[in-house]
Amino acid sequence: MKTVVITGSARGFGFAMAKDFRKNNFNVVLSDINQDGLKKAKEELEEIKSEAKILTVVCDVTKSEMIEDLLNKTIDTFGSVDIWINNAGVNQPDLPVALLTEKDIDFLLNIDLKGAINGSRIAFAHMAKQGYGQIYNVEGYGSNDAMKTGLTIYGTAKRAITYFTEALAKESTSHYNNNVLVCRLTPGIMITNFLTQANGGETKVELSNKVKNVYNILGDYPETISAYVVPRMIKNKKNNGRVAWLTTGRAFRKFFKAMFKKNDFFNE
Ligand SMILES: NC(=O)c1ccc[n+]([C@@H]2O[C@H](COP(=O)([O-])OP(=O)(O)OC[C@H]3O[C@@H](n4cnc5c(N)ncnc54)[C@H](O)[C@@H]3O)[C@@H](O)[C@H]2O)c1
Repeated sequence: MKTVVITGSARGFGFAMAKDFRKNNFNVVLSDINQDGLKKAKEELEEIKSEAKILTVVCDVTKSEMIEDLLNKTIDTFGSVDIWINNAGVNQPDLPVALLTEKDIDFLLNIDLKGAINGSRIAFAHMAKQGYGQIYNVEGYGSNDAMKTGLTIYGTAKRAITYFTEALAKESTSHYNNNVLVCRLTPGIMITNFLTQANGGETKVELSNKVKNVYNILGDYPETISAYVVPRMIKNKKNNGRVAWLTTGRAFRKFFKAMFKKNDFFNE
């Protein structure tokens, strides 16, 4: 039985993927900074009948020793790790850079960038010894160089994640010549708490009607996206691969569809 580790999986996209991996008979390691959220997530996950097991580990990805502990508990329980997803991430306050504090910036970069780098480093070291495995880093706004006031620091982190993931994939073949696949996961816009919360929920992000309109056209619930990406991640055999939901083609189709039928995610 295969095993997946997902950081930031008490809710949102991480939890949606946990459900799909369980449906695909994977042992699932749920991990998050939010202990109560993890407990609830485990109870909900158990409702999906499977012979596979669930492990929960509290892990703040800004602390390398907690990531090491997450890996060690996974190996002690399941013997190996097949897929490791650095999913934990936060949004920034909707402000230009000059109005952010150093604390705002450190908070985001420590989770979205350093958390994923350290998660990759620790998972890679183990997978290199193990001789196989897949690491996924989650892209986001900015990964493709898109720019918008209020998303500059988030976009900087996600642009860096894209570079980092491609560079680590290159190391995997050129330096190690092993079978560890380092890949990108590109979900697009997801209707989760992430959109309206910054600084770990302390700061509210107000969405303008214009932004809501775009999210209503291009957005989806994380479950929709997860059901598409998880089977493709499981099947993937390519290093430096990218599993993407919101491709340019899909975005065009969504704009076309919106002429006839509109979502209203924010009033449901
Ligand atoms: N929502 C979107 O539109 C969108 C779009 C593209 C990419 N993403 C990315 O997808 C990922 C998941 O986002 P989401 O929308 O599910 O967000 P979410 O806010 O619903 O969930 C994020 C989870 O991460 C956890 N978390 C926060 N800080 C943590 C830390 N220090 N250590 C461990 N866990 C921590 C939270 O407790 C939460 O459970 C993020 O990397 C985000 O950048 C989101």
